[in-house]
Amino acid sequence: MEHQVYEQLSFIKIPIDEFLVDKFSAGGFCQDEARREIEKRYAGVLEITDKFNRQSVSYQLNKKEVLHSWLKYKEGFSADLVNMLLDEMGAKPGDWVMDPFVGSGTTALVCQMRGINSIGYDIMPVSAVSIKTKAAIHRYDTNEIKALIRDVEALSVPLNYSGCTPYIRITQDAYPEKNEKFLHYIAVWRDESEYSENAKDLLTLCIINSLERCSYTSKVGQYLGWDCRSKKVINANRLRAEKGQKLLPPKYVRDVILDSKETILEELRHVLMDIEIIQNSGNDNQNAAIEFMPASVLYKLPELEENFLTGVITSPPYCNRYDYTRTYALELVYLGLGEQEVKDMRQSLLSCTVESHSKINELKIYYENIGQRARFDYIYSRIKENAAFKEILSALEERKKNGDLNNNGIIRMVEGYFTELAFIYAEIYRVCKPGAMVAFVNDNVRYGGEVIPVDFLSSSFAEQFGFKVKKIYSLKQKKGNSSQQMAKFGRVALRKSITIWVKES
Ligand SMILES: C[S@@+](CC[C@H](N)C(=O)[O-])C[C@H]1O[C@@H](n2cnc3c(N)ncnc32)[C@H](O)[C@@H]1O
Repeated sequence: MEHQVYEQLSFIKIPIDEFLVDKFSAGGFCQDEARREIEKRYAGVLEITDKFNRQSVSYQLNKKEVLHSWLKYKEGFSADLVNMLLDEMGAKPGDWVMDPFVGSGTTALVCQMRGINSIGYDIMPVSAVSIKTKAAIHRYDTNEIKALIRDVEALSVPLNYSGCTPYIRITQDAYPEKNEKFLHYIAVWRDESEYSENAKDLLTLCIINSLERCSYTSKVGQYLGWDCRSKKVINANRLRAEKGQKLLPPKYVRDVILDSKETILEELRHVLMDIEIIQNSGNDNQNAAIEFMPASVLYKLPELEENFLTGVITSPPYCNRYDYTRTYALELVYLGLGEQEVKDMRQSLLSCTVESHSKINELKIYYENIGQRARFDYIYSRIKENAAFKEILSALEERKKNGDLNNNGIIRMVEGYFTELAFIYAEIYRVCKPGAMVAFVNDNVRYGGEVIPVDFLSSSFAEQFGFKVKKIYSLKQKKGNSSQQMAKFGRVALRKSITIWVKES
């Protein structure tokens, strides 16, 4: 197969073949014509690039950035990436840009700094706190924040204090006793204090951002990892010992479980420094609007007017079983969510876990209620026509029959994930104005030996709804294959890509 070769700045030629897949179904087990067909269709717009790298499409670069480092959101992308994409779309002050999956708010905040209005959605309250506190950067009274820091320094939990920060089952006993008391005490103190709402919100953000380090947990992979010094692991091992089972291997999430008061103070001092830098920087683009809605984009986007967006810069949850409600369980519970509310939130996420249920009936009722049943029917019928999507779903069914899927919920997740995303693509097309540019960051995945080319499949949906696929940037460093898949089915190219679509004028 003859493919073009991409010439990089370093003048080393990378054959594009390395980024393409010859066999989508390991061992030729299932049909893969439709996937090969979209590969052929989009190979010409695939650009292997070092313009964007692993750091810029992840939170890495934000770690040291003023403002963007206020919340460690490891699913986020960098301010640099947003700046590059805004340049590429030619966004100007006064334009409107959307991020349907706000997360920590990188797109909205970079837009604000450039005088660009933004609109965004996220269902996680962590996101709401992040965007609210960062967007208020110009409005903090630094003297008030200094007073707040002095007051927190002086806080001391009474010896007989019986309060304890709330838990749900999956977070039970996540903190050492001293921290669980302090976290409760400071929340009560904050609520009863006379500080402004802005200052209180800032304190909440600093508490949220310190929880993991003050706990026996760490955000690793799809779930929370637990330290062997936690009651949870100690109790589990006691039960195992009683039953004569092998003990869990000792695992330390960090050397020292940090003191919550000191960690919160460190955060407060850090944000104060950033506030002073930005307030003294002369950046006066404070008038750009940030319209954030703490809601599912699926049930908000269809109500927007048509043809007003200049562009979209976003990164949805990936189709990788990653459960935000588990990795952010400490933060969600601290923000007031209970057992059932966390479970409900899991179901409102774009289908990305094996526990996700289909949302299609709910979506149909919603479209009916807003008087748009015909639009629902149109979008859904186009989704069902997509040949590559049909092929992937039937290949996964074959794999299930063959015992190759380690969880049967994967099929429902994949079906829900792309169906919901395709609804979002269709609605984005409607709200974009002619000439608008849309950028989605996503990862390709593989289940049971079946490669799902998320970038090309998404582009084929986007094209069905009217977009022109302009470019698919793929990172030079490919994603690793999971060891399980690699051992069983060998290695394949799994791209990490930024798809660029335009609504032609
Ligand atoms: C990859 S993160 C986005 C990170 C963001 N680009 C940043 O820089 O922080 C995906 C986000 O989508 C949110 N999300 C998942 N399902 C959603 C839905 N149905 N509506 C709105 N947001 C959703 C998640 O809560 C998560 O914050």
